[in-house]
Amino acid sequence: MSGAVPSGFLTLPSIDKALAGEIQAELEQVEQLLRDTVEESDPLLNEAAAHLLAAGGKRLRAILVLLSARFGDASNPDLVPAAAVVELTHVATLYHDDVMDEAELRRGRPSANRRWGNTIAILTGDYVFARASEILADLGTEAVRLQAQTFGRLVRGQIMETAGPRPGVDPMKHYLDVIADKTASLIASSARFGAMFGKADPEVIETLTRAGDALGMAFQLSDDLLDVASETVQSGKTPGTDLREGVLTLPMLYALQGTEPEHARLRSLLGRPLDDDETAEALALLRAHPAMKAAEDDLHSWADRARAELLTLPDCPARSAFLALCDYVVERNG
Ligand code: IPE
Ligand code: IPE
Ligand code: MG
Ligand code: MG
Repeated sequence: MSGAVPSGFLTLPSIDKALAGEIQAELEQVEQLLRDTVEESDPLLNEAAAHLLAAGGKRLRAILVLLSARFGDASNPDLVPAAAVVELTHVATLYHDDVMDEAELRRGRPSANRRWGNTIAILTGDYVFARASEILADLGTEAVRLQAQTFGRLVRGQIMETAGPRPGVDPMKHYLDVIADKTASLIASSARFGAMFGKADPEVIETLTRAGDALGMAFQLSDDLLDVASETVQSGKTPGTDLREGVLTLPMLYALQGTEPEHARLRSLLGRPLDDDETAEALALLRAHPAMKAAEDDLHSWADRARAELLTLPDCPARSAFLALCDYVVERNG
């Protein structure tokens, strides 16, 4: 199961100790707010809504809000609620995503859909999102608008992934559009929220948003590689979920571009729903395929784009920590 922060991220030697201490203390306030926010008098809803939050998660998006505020003035009391809003939005989408992906494990625990069925899982995601909106209402019109736009993009990304590319659309372009909307949007908005509430200069807000966007692209690419390469003990999820569901991710798209006869069996297994045996076979074949290296190269170049944006900002402890987050996203195994 993943810890409350990207495994040891705040203790990395490249991260300033005072900064790490401040962020850790703020994260504890975020945790308290998350717990209080989903408390409910109905016992089933209370249990279902606390289920994923209590299971941990990396809190990457909350960390990004708190870090990005350091490019301005981080004393704004709205930062902790803003960090809670992005985490709650994220968690709400996980409830729905696990229904869509028929996922059985999340954060090392049975998914809400496995435990209570799809109806309860969907409604719990809606409830968590509603609670996030209530906090958001006190953060001002600009924050509400940004959040609404982000949520719209997220849903569009999930729909586009489900529908697949329209005839004539390059599958690789479709994939990049999907991950920009379903994942990079919220990660970029987390950086933007932090910079906005830290009242950073307008051009700094834009730079941090672009850095968050590139980091978000890298993050989803690494998630897609981990779906192939990682084991449950690291990811808290079931490997091969994308393969089983027929969701075409970047390593699969690279594998489909090949024409070598020795990889024909793998190509025949991609992009359609698979049973247990086929999933295991596809997983073994893809793990050994050079397409994994091609996708890893793309992951590196998205992380490089995020770093290049950050390097235009003045050197400060928050910049070093954000750069370390880029390294973490490339190297993470869960
Ligand atoms: C999982 O996100 C969903 C994606 C967008 C890839 P995380 O990997 O940040 O999930 P938690 O919050 O740590 O569980
Ligand atoms: C998750 O995408 C994106 C959102 C939750 C919007 P995935 O389906 O690839 O993420 P995991 O692997 O289940 O966490
Ligand atoms: Mg999923
Ligand atoms: Mg999904």
